[in-house]
Amino acid sequence: MKRHNIPTAKYKVFNNFEKAKTYIEKAPLPIVVKASGLALGKGVTVAPTKAEALRALKQILVDKIFGVSGNEVVIEEYLAGTEISIHAISDGKNYKIFPTSQDHKRIFDDDMGPNTGGMGVIAPLPFVDEALLSKIEEKIVAPIIEGMIKEGRPFVGCLYPGIMLTDEGPKVFEINARLGDPEAQAYLRLLKTDFLEIVDASIDEKLDKLEIKWNDAFACNIALASNGYPGDYEKGKVITGIEEAEMQPDVVVFHAGTKIVRQGLTTNTVTNGGRVLGISATGLTLEKALSTAYGAISKIYFEGIQFRKDIGKKTG
Ligand code: GLY
Repeated sequence: MKRHNIPTAKYKVFNNFEKAKTYIEKAPLPIVVKASGLALGKGVTVAPTKAEALRALKQILVDKIFGVSGNEVVIEEYLAGTEISIHAISDGKNYKIFPTSQDHKRIFDDDMGPNTGGMGVIAPLPFVDEALLSKIEEKIVAPIIEGMIKEGRPFVGCLYPGIMLTDEGPKVFEINARLGDPEAQAYLRLLKTDFLEIVDASIDEKLDKLEIKWNDAFACNIALASNGYPGDYEKGKVITGIEEAEMQPDVVVFHAGTKIVRQGLTTNTVTNGGRVLGISATGLTLEKALSTAYGAISKIYFEGIQFRKDIGKKTG
């Protein structure tokens, strides 16, 4: 991002605990501490105090809670603003931007508690207009695709930058090379074009020939998680009501952490992960999609079920 002038947070990289500690002690708060490698979406701490930043630093660099993913730590300026997800499919030369979406990464309502893999999503975003999306394309997506070409590594696949809408304009805080989860669930509900056609066009360098068609609607997907997630949680809780939820119009239930258990003549679907189910719905308005999804959720139960009640409530 630095090489290609793509707007992002100021940062410094460390592999030495003492040097990182000294840096944190002088840096303004809040401050972001990131494991440099992959950590299932859990490697980032937004620390409001020095003590919390130092605790995260120690866990990553010394205690190695993320293993080798924590050999290096990135200490980054905190970007205040609204977080959104951008997805663009690229064939290495051409790209197509998907509708905007917004994940809700914290476990509790009002963005409280620790980060998770993603607790809910809406798409497209009513508060991102064409002008802002064009700016994001011009300042972020196009320079990434062009930058990758210039560096001799054309990017083929789904580019998913996480973007903060700050007072100084959109800034990138991470770049993923995949679809987001739960963003993908919302996109799959909105896509009219067969996803496989998009993948084929991307592989065959023919994205310029493909028009990706989207339903003129809104989609949401809300995660139902196990008690204790994103920390330790128990598995094997019997889930009821999935079929009833799926009978609601415009609802699709995605299985994330479930398992089928057969005992004699009984077959149960049980919890088998942190995020257990994704309840998705579409609607002509965002409010309709959300009320449909929450209506479907009311049919589902498992012991310790937790989910956010405020998905889609942000206004920008
Ligand atoms: N939406 C969060 C992620 O996929 O990383």
